[in-house]
Amino acid sequence: MSRGLLSHLLTCCVTSALLTGLCNAAPASASCKSTECLTAALLRLELELGQLKKHVRNLEQSAWPIEGGSVAWQKCRKGVCHCGRHSRTVSCQQLRGLNSVPRRQVIPDSVEVLHLSHTHIDAIHENAFRGLFRLKELYVSENLLEVLPAKLFYDLENLSVLNLRGNRITELEKDLMVNNRLLTVLDLSDNRLTEIYEQEFSALSVLNYLTLRNNAIVSLRPDTFRYLRSLEHLDLSGNRLSSLPETLFSSLKVLQILNLSENRITALADMTFGENVRLVTLDLHQNALENLSEPLLQNTTSVTYLDLSANRLSRVSDRHFERLLFLRHLFLGYNKIKHLENGTFTALTSLEHLFLFGNSMTRVDNGAFRGLHQLKWLLLNDNDIKTLPANVFKDLGSLERLQLNSNEFHSLATGLLDNLPRLRQVQLGKNPWHCDCFILYLTHWLKVNRDKLWDRQPKCRGPGDLGGSYVINMTFNDVCDGQWRSMVSIKGRV
Ligand SMILES: *[C@@H]1O[C@H](CO)[C@@H](O)[C@H](O)[C@H]1NC(C)=O
Ligand SMILES: *[C@@H]1O[C@H](CO)[C@@H](O)[C@H](O)[C@H]1NC(C)=O
Ligand SMILES: *[C@@H]1O[C@H](CO)[C@@H](O)[C@H](O)[C@H]1NC(C)=O
Ligand SMILES: *[C@@H]1O[C@H](CO)[C@@H](O)[C@H](O)[C@H]1NC(C)=O
Ligand SMILES: *[C@@H]1O[C@H](CO)[C@@H](O)[C@H](O)[C@H]1NC(C)=O
Ligand SMILES: *[C@@H]1O[C@H](CO)[C@@H](O)[C@H](O)[C@H]1NC(C)=O
Repeated sequence: MSRGLLSHLLTCCVTSALLTGLCNAAPASASCKSTECLTAALLRLELELGQLKKHVRNLEQSAWPIEGGSVAWQKCRKGVCHCGRHSRTVSCQQLRGLNSVPRRQVIPDSVEVLHLSHTHIDAIHENAFRGLFRLKELYVSENLLEVLPAKLFYDLENLSVLNLRGNRITELEKDLMVNNRLLTVLDLSDNRLTEIYEQEFSALSVLNYLTLRNNAIVSLRPDTFRYLRSLEHLDLSGNRLSSLPETLFSSLKVLQILNLSENRITALADMTFGENVRLVTLDLHQNALENLSEPLLQNTTSVTYLDLSANRLSRVSDRHFERLLFLRHLFLGYNKIKHLENGTFTALTSLEHLFLFGNSMTRVDNGAFRGLHQLKWLLLNDNDIKTLPANVFKDLGSLERLQLNSNEFHSLATGLLDNLPRLRQVQLGKNPWHCDCFILYLTHWLKVNRDKLWDRQPKCRGPGDLGGSYVINMTFNDVCDGQWRSMVSIKGRV
């Protein structure tokens, strides 16, 4: 074999091996065995062939007749779909056994709403929507489409709503939406997209709502959303994103809802949300964030809903939240926070719900909840808290619901639950209550506030015989007797 050919083959193999990820574990060039390379190349070829086959299958489909004139609606009604002349609607929904558009169904070219959802369509000819210039809404959700012809939506200049949810689309052709300049709603959720061509959405300057939820997108290029200057709602949840370009969202000046939950994001650059000043809802739950940078939320001053739960955050501080004056719901559950510092939430004067359950908190400083005058719910359950400073809830005059269950409390500091006039629901279960003299504050509170306890009556873990008894039944004699006697005897000796 000639040297040139050999090196060409090698490059070829390594490239294809990299592409399929087969040889990713080993350093690609050296230790990648030739059979592996061959397999990889073949796999790649097979993949491409598969795509080609699907394109050919699309070409093999016949498009339905699209006709003009008023007689077209009469003809339409003779087909299998429902045709509403006055509403300009054609509905071919839920036609079982349909795996392509019905060949004899006449489609009037004045149709404005076309339903083609919940059938078994797995291929579609590029002329299926040719000439439908007036079409405003197209629903093709819950089918089996894998590949869409590049010119499929080419004539749909008036299209406002395009729903492709729940198909098996792996890839979008480059110019697929280049003519759909009036699109306001685009639903691509529940497909199999792994990447998106950077200019794919470049014509969609009036798009308001975009969902790519539940695909397999691994990464996004910096300019993917650059032209979406009207976008208010972006859903990227349920993908495989591990990082985001810092300027990905920087053109989205009117974005209000951003859902990045259920991805694999490990870190976010300082300016990621720096231009999203209208953001109201930011959902980052279930990612792999270890660290929040302090400037990250500096410009998102309109946020009312922030979900950071189920990440790996070990520390939050006042610097993270200092500009979030309108925040009402803060989710920090299921992280790795160990310590809550004095003043962490002081800026959050509008906060109503604070979720901190499922962390490994052991220390809560006095002043940790300082300034939370509007707080209604405080959920501290499922942590390792042994004790809370007596004044820690001092500012929580609006508190209605408090969960302290599943912690390591032996007792509650005297006065802890006093001065909470709105308190209605308290959970205290699954704590190792120690029924010595210090338990009497809780005993007293339980007697006076029977109606506020929202789980089972707490029981003593110990000491000795008192294990298993109800805290509410403890008396001074039960729990303080021994200590009392020893105090008396000490006194006696003096
Ligand atoms: C869009 O629809 C309107 C009326 O619904 C129509 O007048 C106009 O011609 C359509 N645009 C195109 C490009 O056909
Ligand atoms: C974000 O998406 C997830 C998963 O798709 C969903 O469960 C959650 O409710 C969404 N968040 C918001 C704030 O809508
Ligand atoms: C906040 O916005 C200002 C003004 O647009 C900008 O200069 C700054 O870099 C932004 N800060 C962050 C952290 O994004
Ligand atoms: C987290 O942030 C702190 C302070 O900004 C920094 O010192 C630390 O290295 C960061 N940790 C990680 C894992 O990025
Ligand atoms: C918490 O911090 C504030 C402001 O720095 C300070 O005035 C207050 O004394 C601190 N509280 C405690 C209990 O340390
Ligand atoms: C002890 O507490 C339990 C649970 O509240 C109650 O059912 C029981 O009557 C109490 N026993 C006594 C002796 O007060």
